Amino acid sequence: MQLELTYTLENSVHDLQIETMNAEAFGPARFTRAAHLIREGGGHDMQLSYVALHGGAVVGSLRMTQIVIGDTPALLLGPLVIRPEWKSRGLGGKLINMSIEAAKNVGHKIILLVGDEPYYQRFGFRMVPFGKVIMPAPVNPLRLLSYEIEPDMTKSVRGLVRHASKA
Ligand SMILES: CC(C)(COP(=O)(O)OP(=O)(O)OC[C@H]1O[C@@H](n2cnc3c(N)ncnc32)[C@H](O)[C@@H]1OP(=O)(O)O)[C@@H](O)C(=O)NCCC(=O)NCCS
Repeated sequence: MQLELTYTLENSVHDLQIETMNAEAFGPARFTRAAHLIREGGGHDMQLSYVALHGGAVVGSLRMTQIVIGDTPALLLGPLVIRPEWKSRGLGGKLINMSIEAAKNVGHKIILLVGDEPYYQRFGFRMVPFGKVIMPAPVNPLRLLSYEIEPDMTKSVRGLVRHASKA
C-alpha cells in the first residue's frame, strides 16, 4: 500500500521528530542564531506552523513565530526543514505557501525570515533594506528577507525584532 503525503497543522505529537530533523539539518549552531534567540522568547505559533506527513512520520516542517518589528506585529518564518530523501519534490514550497496563506487569513501584514534569497525569492521574499530592521544578534544582511502581505510594509517597519510576548 502506498502511503499518502499529507499536510496539516503541527501539534505536540510532532515535536520530537521536528527537533530531530532540525538537529540533523542545522546542528548545534542553530541555538546561537538570531532567529533562534527570537523564537526562544516565547515559542512558535501552532496555528500557523505546518508539517508534511508521510503516513504518521513528519517529513517536512515549517514553523512560524509571532514577533514585533519595532512596534509592528509580524511573523518570523522558520525553521523550514525537509527530510533529505524528500527534498526537491515541492514540499518546502507547499509549506511556505500554506503558511503565507494562513498568515494572510489572520490579518498579518509582513513575514520576516533569515535564509537564502536564491531559494525564497521564488515565493516573493525580498531583501530588507540594510539598517532598518535590527535583529537581536548579527545576521548577514543579504539573508534578511521579507514577504509583504500588505504592499510596501517593508518601507514602513523599523526597529528591533523581538518575540511578540516580549513586546
Ligand atoms: C531548503 C529546503 C527547505 C528546500 O526544501 P525542498 O522541499 O527541497 O524545496 P522545494 O522542493 O520547494 O524546491 C526545490 C528547489 O529549491 C532549490 N533549492 C533548495 N535549497 C536552495 C537554496 N539554499 N538556494 C537556492 N535554491 C535552493 C533546489 O535546488 C530545487 O531546485 P529545482 O526545483 O530547480 O530542482 C530543504 O532543502 C532543506 O530542508 N534544507 C536543509 C535545511 C535548510 O537549509 N532550511 C532552510 C533554512 S532557512
